[in-house]
Amino acid sequence: MVQGFSREPGTEGPLADIPEGGRRRVWRWAVVIALGGFLFGFDTGVVSGALLYIKRDFGLSAFEQGSVVSVLLIGALLGAVAAGRMAENLGRRKALGIEGAVFLIGTAILVAAPGYGALLVGRVVLGLAVGAASATVPVYLSEVSPKEIRGRVLTLNQLMITTGILISYFVNLLFASGGQWRGMFAVGALPALGIVVGALWVLPESPQWLIRHGRRDEARALIVSVAGEERADHLIEQAQRRETQGLRSDSPRAGGWRVLLEPRVRAALIVGLTLAAVQQFGGINTIIYYAPTTIENTGLSASNSILYSVAIGVINLLMTIVAIKLVDRAGRRRLLLGSLASMLVMLALLGLSFVIGMNALLSLLCMVVYIAAFAVGLGPVFWVLIGEIFPPHARAAGSSASTAVNWISNFVVSLVFLPVANVIGQGQTFWVFAAVCAFGLWFVSRYVPETRGRDFEQVDAALQTRFRKRPQVGAEAG
Ligand code: BGC
Repeated sequence: MVQGFSREPGTEGPLADIPEGGRRRVWRWAVVIALGGFLFGFDTGVVSGALLYIKRDFGLSAFEQGSVVSVLLIGALLGAVAAGRMAENLGRRKALGIEGAVFLIGTAILVAAPGYGALLVGRVVLGLAVGAASATVPVYLSEVSPKEIRGRVLTLNQLMITTGILISYFVNLLFASGGQWRGMFAVGALPALGIVVGALWVLPESPQWLIRHGRRDEARALIVSVAGEERADHLIEQAQRRETQGLRSDSPRAGGWRVLLEPRVRAALIVGLTLAAVQQFGGINTIIYYAPTTIENTGLSASNSILYSVAIGVINLLMTIVAIKLVDRAGRRRLLLGSLASMLVMLALLGLSFVIGMNALLSLLCMVVYIAAFAVGLGPVFWVLIGEIFPPHARAAGSSASTAVNWISNFVVSLVFLPVANVIGQGQTFWVFAAVCAFGLWFVSRYVPETRGRDFEQVDAALQTRFRKRPQVGAEAG
């Protein structure tokens, strides 16, 4: 049982069992770190509104419009790839600060853009920042949080993503009357500034990273400030032991991609990469990005498209709050399995509704339940797990690789959704997403261990067991 594992003596992380005051500090840091997630969400949503006016001002063709949207995803892919090395070599705090600064530069380029070329450059630079931050945030959040609340702290990332998406719709509405697309982009500078200021003056470095880089005294001071003097030495010793176990003399240098080739990291890597792909190929962004088009295809009027987007954004956000409440109680596996099963059923029905032409309101209902199911499980839990499953020395590289696969899958799905739907039919396309969820369901039940309340050693042991042999029937928590 999970509880049994979490009470095993002598395996706490650098921050564990900390008093209430210490927890409050951790939550304050977490909010600042998760602003990286806000930028992710804000950028996902703001461009659709801005594009309406950019198109008018610069006379962009359909291809040019598409490229303004999608070059961000290419930048994000590159940013995610670069983030692992940066977070390992410079530390989590500096890496996040630099990512905030790059976002500010990208925003400045966009706001001042005189034409199409500058727009593309600005979007790539923004993408670099968003992609890199999306890989750094789960690692950083995981390493500043005690295991008892780690799931909730990591889910804050998804909450900020969904908040960012929703706020971007309101910002679009606010600036729409004057067609001020530059103003829409400029709003993104505020959270980015928050990250830069936070990295300079508010956030601590990750204690696990400090210990790995021989800065034990700084790590100790930080742990004392959160966990108190009595527990500090014990916790430091645990973290130190974890490092010596992780960095055996034959281990490639932490920070490089080669750590991902170590046999010990393989299981975590397969889980991270597979969940990254399943999260996107389950079709979520076809609904987030194309909801108005899809809704129109059901036969409902698209004149209220912004209203539909807002409604979907609100459900997405509310259900993420439910996930925060559940993730440290029900556990990651239960949320993932329930989420994938519900998404599968909704996608199958949604597909059917298009193929046999069911009532439009029923299709809408399927979409809403599908979003809710994603938001309570697959959405947040993917980001939670990539902060939890990798060994400390490979965590930044593992998160980087998983995040890169998430961005590339996002790019592919966004690019091919409409053309594929035109060829095989919209309903049939939803069935393809349903098949991906069925695969995800099998994969999670077979290979993804429960991580709730567990230290890395316990997560690692459970992972290795799952990849070595078939788990016992009923070993749900394993
Ligand atoms: C996904 C994004 C998606 C968002 C929607 C995130 O977990 O990675 O691609 O747009 O959830 O809430």
